[in-house]
Amino acid sequence: MARAPILDAIAKAHPLRRAWRRLRAEAATFRIRRLQARGDPYFTARLFDGLFTRQPDPWRFETSDVAKERMAAMMGLLRSPHLGRLLEIGCAEGWMTEALAERAEAVVAMDISAVAVARTRQRVAHLDNVQVVQRDLVVEGLEGTFDAIVCAGVLVYLPPVAQPLLCREMVAHLADGGHLLLEHQSHRSAGTLSAHDIHGLYHQHPSLRCVGQVTGSEFLVALFKKTF
Ligand SMILES: C[S@@+](CC[C@H](N)C(=O)[O-])C[C@H]1O[C@@H](n2cnc3c(N)ncnc32)[C@H](O)[C@@H]1O
Repeated sequence: MARAPILDAIAKAHPLRRAWRRLRAEAATFRIRRLQARGDPYFTARLFDGLFTRQPDPWRFETSDVAKERMAAMMGLLRSPHLGRLLEIGCAEGWMTEALAERAEAVVAMDISAVAVARTRQRVAHLDNVQVVQRDLVVEGLEGTFDAIVCAGVLVYLPPVAQPLLCREMVAHLADGGHLLLEHQSHRSAGTLSAHDIHGLYHQHPSLRCVGQVTGSEFLVALFKKTF
């Protein structure tokens, strides 16, 4: 849909530009929170399917400056560790999956949304080291052991009460010496947890050691190593 010229002018004007970008990026989050408030106990597959169906790339991962900054921060931290068999939780439409597949021996990309999974499958069809699965991290948990797990922008959508369990689940499915990369927004919005709230649990986990962190303009990335 074409954007009104006045909105384009606002988007370009300094100092409103940054606030405008953030508003756009959060619009998708607010939409699903409104749906959730109508009765869904947490963000279900149906909610995410609806989001992806209404608008491809709902968080503007392909185009926004912040998304590019996040990607650079995450890939920078993942440069040195051995990624081996890697699990990407919440792959969305697979915009990171391709980059991860270049670095890892094998990638399992999972997402709760069938629409997202179908788009990722299409996107990585030319790669023979990627498997894409539809799976709900909360309801079904994880399967298998991985040398690396990447979980970016996902845990903020999951119930606060489930966070300690999810932390234990991820650590349990990480090989000894394996790496876990987490990325989440640094601010709380509409009742969501922030990266500080979520990553704090992982900093406290006795089997994890934080080996790298990046504080971005709107996000935090942390890389943990599972110790023996
Ligand atoms: C904001 S997107 C993040 C995408 C990508 N990881 C990134 O950072 O660019 C959140 C993704 O998590 C997925 N997701 C949400 N809840 C999930 C769950 N319970 N299990 C698996 N995936 C989930 C959504 O479908 C969505 O694709």
